[in-house]
Amino acid sequence: MEKAVRFGVSLDSKLLTEFDALIGKKGYTNRSEAIRDLIRDRLVHEQWQQDDTPVAGAVIMVFDHHSMDLPRRLTELQHDHHDLIVSTVHVHLDHDNCLEVLVLKGAAGEVRQLGEKLISTRGIKHGKMTLTTTGKGLT
Ligand code: NI
Repeated sequence: MEKAVRFGVSLDSKLLTEFDALIGKKGYTNRSEAIRDLIRDRLVHEQWQQDDTPVAGAVIMVFDHHSMDLPRRLTELQHDHHDLIVSTVHVHLDHDNCLEVLVLKGAAGEVRQLGEKLISTRGIKHGKMTLTTTGKGLT
């Protein structure tokens, strides 16, 4: 493990009060862990911007499986990019609605593009993509 370094930060007292209230609500027991998470989140966000960086992510979509030829188009798109899709979960929410979660892994640019393509497919009621890190190089 890398050696921990202490450093001081000056900031407006009102800002610090707001920060403490926020992290208290989120369940952090100390500022250091909250600040470490903020820094890691910013670093991970930076990785997504670099097209060649390996990232992991998830896409979640809700759709009506009766919707035109949507299930067929989604399956086709997923087969076209099978190398980026690690796992798929399909849940039949009710008679009409399906929820699908795709776990993606690959180069940030390709993962982002596939996620956007899936979510913007006509007939998807709601879609979200969350990108994260593969964990490598992040302490
Ligand atoms: Ni279904």
